[in-house]
Amino acid sequence: MFEIEKIVAKDKRGFYKEVNSYLEALLEGESDWMAGISNASSLLYHTLEDINWAGFYLYKNKELVLGPFHGKPACVRIEMGKGVCGTTAKTREIQVVEDVNKFPGHIACDPVSQSEIVLPIIKDNLLIGVLDIDSPIKGRFDKEDVQGLRKFVDILNRKLVWPGTFMDISEYQRRAMRTKGKYNSIKEQVLNASLGLAGEVGECVDHIKKGIFHGHELDKEYIKKELGDVAWYIALMSHALGLDMGHVCQENISKLEKRYPEGFHKEQSINRKE
Ligand code: SME
Repeated sequence: MFEIEKIVAKDKRGFYKEVNSYLEALLEGESDWMAGISNASSLLYHTLEDINWAGFYLYKNKELVLGPFHGKPACVRIEMGKGVCGTTAKTREIQVVEDVNKFPGHIACDPVSQSEIVLPIIKDNLLIGVLDIDSPIKGRFDKEDVQGLRKFVDILNRKLVWPGTFMDISEYQRRAMRTKGKYNSIKEQVLNASLGLAGEVGECVDHIKKGIFHGHELDKEYIKKELGDVAWYIALMSHALGLDMGHVCQENISKLEKRYPEGFHKEQSINRKE
Protein backbone atom coordinates (compact mmCIF):
# COMPACT_ATOMS: atom_id res chain seq x y z
CA MET A 1 0.00 0.00 0.00
CA PHE A 2 1.16 3.50 -0.78
CA GLU A 3 0.73 5.88 2.14
CA ILE A 4 0.01 9.51 1.33
CA GLU A 5 1.25 11.35 4.33
CA LYS A 6 -0.41 14.61 5.19
CA ILE A 7 0.64 17.39 2.87
CA VAL A 8 2.41 19.92 5.02
CA ALA A 9 2.88 22.80 2.58
CA LYS A 10 1.04 25.97 3.46
CA ASP A 11 0.87 27.53 0.02
CA LYS A 12 -0.25 26.11 -3.32
CA ARG A 13 3.22 26.15 -4.79
CA GLY A 14 4.61 23.99 -2.00
CA PHE A 15 1.49 21.83 -2.13
CA TYR A 16 2.02 20.95 -5.78
CA LYS A 17 5.70 20.33 -5.16
CA GLU A 18 4.74 17.68 -2.63
CA VAL A 19 1.93 16.20 -4.73
CA ASN A 20 4.17 16.01 -7.76
CA SER A 21 6.88 14.22 -5.84
CA TYR A 22 4.25 11.72 -4.63
CA LEU A 23 3.29 11.20 -8.24
CA GLU A 24 6.92 10.60 -9.23
CA ALA A 25 7.16 8.00 -6.46
CA LEU A 26 3.86 6.35 -7.43
CA LEU A 27 4.98 5.94 -11.03
CA GLU A 28 8.52 4.85 -10.24
CA GLY A 29 9.47 1.94 -12.50
CA GLU A 30 5.93 1.62 -13.87
CA SER A 31 4.87 2.73 -17.32
CA ASP A 32 1.41 1.16 -17.63
CA TRP A 33 -0.88 4.09 -18.51
CA MET A 34 -4.08 2.64 -17.04
CA ALA A 35 -2.47 1.88 -13.69
CA GLY A 36 -0.65 5.21 -13.74
CA ILE A 37 -3.63 7.47 -14.32
CA SER A 38 -5.84 5.43 -11.99
CA ASN A 39 -3.41 6.14 -9.16
CA ALA A 40 -2.94 9.72 -10.36
CA SER A 41 -6.68 10.44 -10.12
CA SER A 42 -6.79 8.91 -6.64
CA LEU A 43 -3.80 11.02 -5.59
CA LEU A 44 -5.46 14.24 -6.79
CA TYR A 45 -8.84 13.38 -5.30
CA HIS A 46 -7.39 12.60 -1.89
CA THR A 47 -4.98 15.51 -1.64
CA LEU A 48 -6.57 18.52 -3.36
CA GLU A 49 -8.91 20.45 -1.13
CA ASP A 50 -12.40 21.50 -2.20
CA ILE A 51 -12.79 19.28 -5.19
CA ASN A 52 -15.52 16.77 -6.03
CA TRP A 53 -14.17 15.07 -9.16
CA ALA A 54 -10.71 14.33 -10.56
CA GLY A 55 -10.04 12.16 -13.55
CA PHE A 56 -9.21 11.59 -17.16
CA TYR A 57 -10.88 11.48 -20.54
CA LEU A 58 -8.94 9.69 -23.29
CA TYR A 59 -9.02 10.66 -26.94
CA LYS A 60 -10.27 7.70 -28.92
CA ASN A 61 -11.80 7.52 -32.39
CA LYS A 62 -12.11 11.30 -32.64
CA GLU A 63 -13.98 11.81 -29.36
CA LEU A 64 -13.23 11.80 -25.63
CA VAL A 65 -14.04 8.66 -23.66
CA LEU A 66 -14.16 8.51 -19.87
CA GLY A 67 -11.06 7.06 -18.24
CA PRO A 68 -10.02 6.43 -14.62
CA PHE A 69 -11.42 8.97 -12.12
CA HIS A 70 -12.50 9.57 -8.55
CA GLY A 71 -15.87 11.13 -7.81
CA LYS A 72 -19.42 10.50 -8.94
CA PRO A 73 -20.13 8.56 -12.16
CA ALA A 74 -19.69 10.87 -15.16
CA CYS A 75 -20.77 11.11 -18.79
CA VAL A 76 -18.90 8.56 -20.88
CA ARG A 77 -18.40 10.24 -24.26
CA ILE A 78 -17.70 13.89 -25.04
CA GLU A 79 -17.59 15.28 -28.57
CA MET A 80 -14.61 17.37 -29.61
CA GLY A 81 -15.42 21.03 -28.97
CA LYS A 82 -18.28 20.24 -26.53
CA GLY A 83 -18.22 21.33 -22.88
CA VAL A 84 -15.05 22.27 -21.04
CA CYS A 85 -13.28 18.97 -21.77
CA GLY A 86 -14.18 18.96 -25.46
CA THR A 87 -13.04 22.59 -25.77
CA THR A 88 -9.69 21.73 -24.16
CA ALA A 89 -9.25 18.77 -26.47
CA LYS A 90 -10.11 20.80 -29.56
CA THR A 91 -8.07 23.92 -28.75
CA ARG A 92 -5.33 21.99 -26.88
CA GLU A 93 -5.35 24.85 -24.40
CA ILE A 94 -5.83 24.69 -20.63
CA GLN A 95 -9.32 25.84 -19.58
CA VAL A 96 -9.81 27.45 -16.19
CA VAL A 97 -13.53 28.01 -15.65
CA GLU A 98 -14.41 30.22 -12.69
CA ASP A 99 -18.11 29.56 -12.92
CA VAL A 100 -19.25 26.55 -14.92
CA ASN A 101 -22.79 27.93 -15.09
CA LYS A 102 -21.46 30.67 -17.34
CA PHE A 103 -19.51 28.35 -19.65
CA PRO A 104 -21.50 27.83 -22.85
CA GLY A 105 -22.21 24.13 -23.35
CA HIS A 106 -20.78 23.06 -19.99
CA ILE A 107 -21.67 19.41 -19.40
CA ALA A 108 -22.98 19.07 -15.87
CA CYS A 109 -22.08 15.59 -14.63
CA ASP A 110 -22.59 16.56 -11.00
CA PRO A 111 -24.80 19.60 -10.21
CA VAL A 112 -22.56 20.32 -7.22
CA SER A 113 -19.67 21.36 -9.52
CA GLN A 114 -19.18 25.13 -9.69
CA SER A 115 -15.72 25.59 -11.16
CA GLU A 116 -13.43 23.43 -13.25
CA ILE A 117 -9.92 23.11 -14.65
CA VAL A 118 -9.08 20.96 -17.66
CA LEU A 119 -5.58 20.35 -19.03
CA PRO A 120 -4.77 18.72 -22.37
CA ILE A 121 -2.36 15.80 -22.43
CA ILE A 122 -0.25 15.99 -25.56
CA LYS A 123 2.66 13.73 -26.47
CA ASP A 124 4.73 14.19 -29.64
CA ASN A 125 2.07 16.57 -30.92
CA LEU A 126 -0.66 13.91 -30.57
CA LEU A 127 -3.63 14.46 -28.31
CA ILE A 128 -3.80 11.71 -25.67
CA GLY A 129 -6.68 13.05 -23.60
CA VAL A 130 -7.46 15.54 -20.84
CA LEU A 131 -7.14 15.81 -17.08
CA ASP A 132 -10.34 17.22 -15.58
CA ILE A 133 -10.86 18.49 -12.02
CA ASP A 134 -14.16 19.87 -10.66
CA SER A 135 -14.80 21.89 -7.54
CA PRO A 136 -17.98 22.73 -5.63
CA ILE A 137 -16.57 26.23 -5.03
CA LYS A 138 -16.63 29.05 -7.59
CA GLY A 139 -13.20 30.30 -8.71
CA ARG A 140 -11.37 27.41 -7.02
CA PHE A 141 -8.56 27.24 -9.60
CA ASP A 142 -5.93 29.89 -10.35
CA LYS A 143 -2.56 30.36 -12.03
CA GLU A 144 -0.76 28.32 -9.39
CA ASP A 145 -3.06 25.36 -9.99
CA VAL A 146 -2.31 25.72 -13.70
CA GLN A 147 1.43 25.69 -12.99
CA GLY A 148 1.32 22.80 -10.54
CA LEU A 149 -1.00 20.66 -12.63
CA ARG A 150 0.96 21.35 -15.78
CA LYS A 151 3.95 19.77 -14.06
CA PHE A 152 1.71 16.92 -12.92
CA VAL A 153 0.75 16.22 -16.55
CA ASP A 154 4.42 16.53 -17.61
CA ILE A 155 5.34 13.78 -15.15
CA LEU A 156 2.58 11.51 -16.50
CA ASN A 157 3.80 12.19 -20.02
CA ARG A 158 7.38 11.40 -19.13
CA LYS A 159 6.69 8.22 -17.18
CA LEU A 160 3.79 6.53 -18.96
CA VAL A 161 3.49 4.75 -22.27
CA TRP A 162 0.15 5.98 -23.62
CA PRO A 163 -2.42 3.86 -25.45
CA GLY A 164 -2.95 4.29 -29.17
CA THR A 165 -5.36 7.01 -30.16
CA PHE A 166 -7.44 4.79 -32.40
CA MET A 167 -7.24 1.07 -31.99
CA ASP A 168 -5.11 -1.45 -30.18
CA ILE A 169 -3.23 -3.72 -32.64
CA SER A 170 -4.42 -6.97 -31.05
CA GLU A 171 -8.00 -5.65 -31.21
CA TYR A 172 -7.44 -4.80 -34.88
CA GLN A 173 -6.32 -8.34 -35.61
CA ARG A 174 -9.37 -9.83 -33.86
CA ARG A 175 -11.78 -7.60 -35.72
CA ALA A 176 -10.02 -7.90 -39.08
CA MET A 177 -10.13 -11.69 -38.87
CA ARG A 178 -13.91 -11.64 -38.72
CA THR A 179 -13.73 -10.81 -42.42
CA LYS A 180 -11.27 -13.50 -43.47
CA GLY A 181 -12.30 -16.22 -45.92
CA LYS A 182 -12.17 -19.99 -45.48
CA TYR A 183 -8.88 -21.77 -46.10
CA ASN A 184 -8.31 -25.51 -46.41
CA SER A 185 -4.98 -25.45 -44.62
CA ILE A 186 -2.53 -23.18 -42.84
CA LYS A 187 -0.29 -23.44 -45.87
CA GLU A 188 -3.08 -22.06 -48.05
CA GLN A 189 -3.75 -19.24 -45.60
CA VAL A 190 -0.05 -18.32 -45.42
CA LEU A 191 0.16 -18.35 -49.21
CA ASN A 192 -2.93 -16.17 -49.56
CA ALA A 193 -1.51 -13.74 -46.96
CA SER A 194 1.87 -13.61 -48.75
CA LEU A 195 0.35 -12.88 -52.14
CA GLY A 196 -2.11 -10.37 -50.69
CA LEU A 197 0.63 -8.61 -48.73
CA ALA A 198 2.91 -8.31 -51.75
CA GLY A 199 -0.04 -7.16 -53.88
CA GLU A 200 -1.14 -4.43 -51.47
CA VAL A 201 2.43 -3.19 -50.96
CA GLY A 202 2.67 -3.12 -54.75
CA GLU A 203 -0.47 -0.99 -55.08
CA CYS A 204 0.91 1.42 -52.52
CA VAL A 205 4.31 1.64 -54.18
CA ASP A 206 2.78 2.02 -57.65
CA HIS A 207 0.81 5.04 -56.47
CA ILE A 208 3.98 6.59 -55.04
CA LYS A 209 5.88 5.87 -58.28
CA LYS A 210 3.14 7.61 -60.29
CA GLY A 211 3.29 10.53 -57.89
CA ILE A 212 7.04 10.95 -58.26
CA PHE A 213 7.69 10.02 -61.90
CA HIS A 214 4.39 10.53 -63.75
CA GLY A 215 3.42 13.81 -62.18
CA HIS A 216 0.24 12.41 -60.53
CA GLU A 217 -1.10 14.00 -57.40
CA LEU A 218 -0.02 12.04 -54.26
CA ASP A 219 -3.30 11.04 -52.67
CA LYS A 220 -2.81 10.55 -48.94
CA GLU A 221 -6.29 9.07 -48.50
CA TYR A 222 -5.54 6.45 -51.16
CA ILE A 223 -2.24 5.53 -49.49
CA LYS A 224 -4.01 5.35 -46.13
CA LYS A 225 -6.48 2.79 -47.52
CA GLU A 226 -3.70 0.74 -49.10
CA LEU A 227 -1.72 0.73 -45.86
CA GLY A 228 -4.87 -0.53 -44.16
CA ASP A 229 -5.00 -3.39 -46.65
CA VAL A 230 -1.32 -4.14 -45.96
CA ALA A 231 -2.20 -4.32 -42.25
CA TRP A 232 -5.07 -6.71 -43.05
CA TYR A 233 -2.73 -9.18 -44.72
CA ILE A 234 -0.21 -8.89 -41.89
CA ALA A 235 -3.11 -9.79 -39.59
CA LEU A 236 -3.95 -12.78 -41.79
CA MET A 237 -0.36 -14.01 -41.81
CA SER A 238 -0.05 -13.58 -38.04
CA HIS A 239 -3.36 -15.38 -37.54
CA ALA A 240 -2.26 -18.28 -39.75
CA LEU A 241 0.90 -18.69 -37.69
CA GLY A 242 -0.91 -18.33 -34.37
CA LEU A 243 0.76 -15.00 -33.60
CA ASP A 244 -0.76 -11.97 -31.90
CA MET A 245 -0.05 -9.00 -34.15
CA GLY A 246 0.30 -6.76 -31.08
CA HIS A 247 2.99 -9.10 -29.82
CA VAL A 248 4.76 -9.03 -33.20
CA CYS A 249 4.85 -5.20 -33.02
CA GLN A 250 5.91 -5.21 -29.37
CA GLU A 251 8.86 -7.51 -30.08
CA ASN A 252 9.90 -5.34 -33.00
CA ILE A 253 9.93 -2.27 -30.75
CA SER A 254 11.90 -4.10 -28.04
CA LYS A 255 14.49 -5.12 -30.62
CA LEU A 256 14.82 -1.59 -32.01
CA GLU A 257 14.92 0.07 -28.60
CA LYS A 258 17.77 -2.22 -27.64
CA ARG A 259 19.58 -1.49 -30.89
CA TYR A 260 19.05 2.28 -30.73
CA PRO A 261 18.63 3.23 -27.04
CA GLU A 262 18.87 6.96 -27.86
CA GLY A 263 16.98 6.77 -31.18
CA PHE A 264 18.42 5.99 -34.61
CA HIS A 265 22.21 6.24 -34.81
CA LYS A 266 24.27 5.69 -37.96
CA GLU A 267 27.20 4.11 -36.08
CA GLN A 268 24.93 1.62 -34.31
CA SER A 269 23.28 0.78 -37.61
CA ILE A 270 26.58 0.00 -39.35
CA ASN A 271 28.07 -1.94 -36.43
CA ARG A 272 24.96 -3.95 -35.58
CA LYS A 273 25.45 -7.08 -33.53
CA GLU A 274 22.20 -8.82 -34.49
N1 SME B 1 -17.93 19.24 -17.01
C1 SME B 1 -17.22 18.57 -18.04
C2 SME B 1 -17.73 17.15 -18.23
C3 SME B 1 -17.01 16.15 -17.42
S1 SME B 1 -17.43 16.17 -15.80
O1 SME B 1 -17.10 17.45 -15.20
C4 SME B 1 -16.68 14.97 -14.98
C5 SME B 1 -17.35 19.34 -19.33
O2 SME B 1 -18.10 20.30 -19.45
O3 SME B 1 -16.67 18.96 -20.28
